[in-house]
Amino acid sequence: MITAGPMPDTVATTSTVRLPRVLVADDQPDILEAVQLLLKGEGYEVETALSPSGILLAVQRHDFDAALIDLNYARDTTSGAEGLDLLGRIRAVDPTLPVSVMTAWGSVDGAVEAMRRGAYDYVEKPWDNARLLLMVRRQVEMGRALRAGRQLQTEIETLRGTAGRPLLIAESPRMRPVLDLMARIAPSDANVLITGEHGTGKELVAQWLHAASARATKPFTAVNLGGLSEGLFESELFGHVRGAFTDAKTDRAGRFELADGGSLFLDEIANISLSQQAKLLRVLQTREVERVGSSRTKRVDVRILAATNADLREEVSAGRFREDLLFRINTIEIPLPALRDRREDILPLARHFLDRHAQRYGRRGLTLDAGAAQALLTHSWPGNVRELDHAVERGVLLAQGTSVRAGDLGLRPPGPPARLEDLTLAEAERAIIERALARFGGNVSQAARALGLSRSALYRRLESNGQV
Ligand SMILES: Nc1ncnc2c1ncn2[C@@H]1O[C@H](COP(=O)(O)OP(=O)(O)OP(=O)(O)O)[C@@H](O)[C@H]1O
Ligand SMILES: [Mg+2]
Repeated sequence: MITAGPMPDTVATTSTVRLPRVLVADDQPDILEAVQLLLKGEGYEVETALSPSGILLAVQRHDFDAALIDLNYARDTTSGAEGLDLLGRIRAVDPTLPVSVMTAWGSVDGAVEAMRRGAYDYVEKPWDNARLLLMVRRQVEMGRALRAGRQLQTEIETLRGTAGRPLLIAESPRMRPVLDLMARIAPSDANVLITGEHGTGKELVAQWLHAASARATKPFTAVNLGGLSEGLFESELFGHVRGAFTDAKTDRAGRFELADGGSLFLDEIANISLSQQAKLLRVLQTREVERVGSSRTKRVDVRILAATNADLREEVSAGRFREDLLFRINTIEIPLPALRDRREDILPLARHFLDRHAQRYGRRGLTLDAGAAQALLTHSWPGNVRELDHAVERGVLLAQGTSVRAGDLGLRPPGPPARLEDLTLAEAERAIIERALARFGGNVSQAARALGLSRSALYRRLESNGQV
């Protein structure tokens, strides 16, 4: 039989000693009560939440040492995907909080998927008390270790500052104006359009803006507009009443209502049809929503944070996007540069992901060897920060010994060099410059020297070639 071991130590901080604090969330009050009783009996301080927004609120407000949540919010969601998204959302608020999930007996698949997405562990319901206590105890230890590590981390250029904001790593000169802009507009209520290629951190920026705003204690609600059919679009955003259509078995609030008082993240905004755009625009203008099938209007107070990897101005000229909607959502634009244009961020980001994955896969102390660092610096990162995250994760999984080597990262070797006779003069120049930059990790001075140019001459060429 597993035993839970002695009572967990208390946490010593500079001025106070406090009990380890655990967040427990489930939509069934009786389950909450049972778990709470069990944990309190073992000397934990317990806070409970009944809904996803309650969880996020709690995590924003307090420092927990561990969280135990059920991902299956039957009343709030139509699919398990939402519950899984919650894991990412929690991590964005508090990257060092170990989160375990409770899952219905026999639905281990969901739990495994949750762990793949960063959950610490899972228990099945009905749970075994000893197993649950052991898990929470380990979680608390892990949470403390992570926090201690975080405190030791040198103060790199991050926008972290206050508790609750996601860690956003940005050391490059290219990101400085972006950080300035973010800091300046976060407290305002202005709608923001975040643009950038895939994986550049648009959603993270949206979460940061929300967490740094006066709305931080209200919900941050995200919706991906990319894949919503015409019918689903309205019910998802504005809600529906029972019987509005065949599958509408109950009344359901839409994302606008759920985000009331907070921020609504509209991802992939370029991917909606003109008629969907018209419906969205109307709500943004009137600040009122009507659930599908109902004629009652409800006022909503929502800040819109939208994201796209398309050029919306171009979409407007092509007649695919309404200009008036663009004006509405684009009070301020935050353009995120591609990772290849801010190479100084590559290694700090890689170290951040390395710590995170090494921790997660029980490989603490792993480092990047020089060859791996070099490979990371010279890769072109078409998938940007997300691709880097995945490469480092793969490196951690494949590393033998104490360091990750270039071969562990699974990066594509650069393609065969194009044959000179196939290139125009301009293409050849661009290729030569690109390779020189890649060779020196994006350092313009060194690349210029190798090319026999002055730094400013190389810059002029980069500019006229559209390479910056
Ligand atoms: N500056 C950063 N610091 C730390 N992590 C980052 C940073 N930028 C991005 N990430 C991480 O990289 C991953 C991709 O970021 P995110 O999902 O925000 O990108 P995106 O622009 O929304 O991508 P897509 O267009 O594909 O939806 C996330 O795990 C995010 O936490
Ligand atoms: Mg995104």
